[in-house]
Amino acid sequence: MKKIFKILLLCLVFFSGCGRKEYLPGTYLGQEKLYKSVIEVRLTLDSDKKIKDLIASVKGKEELITKEALPVLVERVKKTGNIDIDGIAGATYTSDAFKRAVEKALKKSGLGKNEIKKIDEKLVEKNYEILTTDVVVVGGGGAGMVSASTVKELGKDVIILEKASILGGNTARATGGINAADTKYQREKGIKDSKELFFKDTMAGGHNLNDPNLVNILASKSNDTIEWFDSIGAKFSDVGKMGGASVNRAHRPVDGNGLKLPVGAVMVEKLITHCNKLGVKIVTGTKVESLIVSDGRVTGVRATKLDGTKLIVNSKAVILAMGGFGANNKLVSKYRPELKGFITTNAPSITGDVVEIGKKIGIAFVDMDQIQIHPTVRQEDGALITESLRGDGAVLVNYRGEHFVNELETRDVVSKAEISQRGGFAWLIVDQKLYNNSNVIKSYDEKGYFIKGKNLRELSENIGTDYKTLKNSLNLSNPPYYAVKVAPGVHHTMGGVKINDGAHVMDENGNIIEGLFAAGEVTGGIHGANRLGGNALADLGTFGRIAGKNAVEEIKNTSL
Ligand code: FUM
Repeated sequence: MKKIFKILLLCLVFFSGCGRKEYLPGTYLGQEKLYKSVIEVRLTLDSDKKIKDLIASVKGKEELITKEALPVLVERVKKTGNIDIDGIAGATYTSDAFKRAVEKALKKSGLGKNEIKKIDEKLVEKNYEILTTDVVVVGGGGAGMVSASTVKELGKDVIILEKASILGGNTARATGGINAADTKYQREKGIKDSKELFFKDTMAGGHNLNDPNLVNILASKSNDTIEWFDSIGAKFSDVGKMGGASVNRAHRPVDGNGLKLPVGAVMVEKLITHCNKLGVKIVTGTKVESLIVSDGRVTGVRATKLDGTKLIVNSKAVILAMGGFGANNKLVSKYRPELKGFITTNAPSITGDVVEIGKKIGIAFVDMDQIQIHPTVRQEDGALITESLRGDGAVLVNYRGEHFVNELETRDVVSKAEISQRGGFAWLIVDQKLYNNSNVIKSYDEKGYFIKGKNLRELSENIGTDYKTLKNSLNLSNPPYYAVKVAPGVHHTMGGVKINDGAHVMDENGNIIEGLFAAGEVTGGIHGANRLGGNALADLGTFGRIAGKNAVEEIKNTSL
């Protein structure tokens, strides 16, 4: 009996220890799949159960967002000594995969998530920083990086303050192309275009609500903008078509095999490299809350960093480039109540902070109720399915498989037609031929967006359409076929800060505000009632350079 009791006791001790390893300090490897790549972390723990080091890398194809987000996530863990960190808005998949990889590494050490010795928050010093520079750029998306690098190219110091933890804003999400007329790339392909035609298309697309002076600049400087991007290594040599354009005008990058790449990711990557090369100071995770005005002139900004540090940047000029307000549904539905609850394609940081900032100093705003919905947005996560696919031949059908709209109509027209279909959605369909020409389509497939069919009948069954109707609707003929379900989502806010043709911000009395410039989606007036696809990047490239140049000119002319 005694013997049996002893054995039972031993079993109990043994099994209670099972699955619970003893803690051993050291370095542990954790891996987690992310699309076609793997995030790998090496977590080092010391004998006090504290995180001593953390290294993260990616094996396989690394997306731009992952490249930007990983160092920030590593820093968050190291700074707090905690693996339960907040993810990065706009980089959710990367954040989640990273955290799972770290947890796996931690588990191997024998330590539970709550057993790590965290850094006492109270001991983390909250700072108050003051910086001084020539120009502050508020926002580190495309417009911000273009204007900041222009300032630096012209010999003045510049600091970018970006609210998000990573650079890129909405630009990083752009896929379709950048519009430009009369470029060498169009000429090489025999495409006949002109500034006048570009002007005409943009005004018509915007229902003539656009400011013609600004559109004239957009059209006439577009070739220079393509050349400027070329000069920083962002080559947009392929030319496709987007809705509302009379000719192929949307310039986009291709890889070494001639396959299309997403324009925004390439643009942001080259801009970051260019800014770093020039020595532009970049501060991320920092929200600008107000502008400093002295003697009627904007002379800096007040901001708060994610960790609560207050920051004042004194400068001679400020360029606003923080994007629109598409990700702020409260503001969107204030101006357009029928868009309440609509999903958005925008980065989470695009919340229209300029409205509050602008009110305090009397900035004028225009066209705030002009908000664009894009017809091909995945409703599950707001992912944009680029319009350029339709330009290349992708077809839209309704729930029955019926073709219901010309795919190359402007976005307002296509969205309206889609909303009027049963269920308010459409299937966007591509075939293997389109797939083979585009890394963009391939990336959608890798992300699991498509329902597939080895032939049309199978596709029709899989997406629940009527086979004969679908067959009659498609002019695609190369199986297999791929379909993604789409519906409209908030994409672009055409309204914003009023600027003059020198990108100078105007006040409510029609005067310029000295020391204050703006570029990109934060501004209003260029796109009127409906922006054409490809014109946002053209806008930020052109007006970003104008804002940077004129900020420097003004500093020089007023000998500040
Ligand atoms: O559909 C798209 O690729 C969007 C482009 C744009 O808004 O310019």
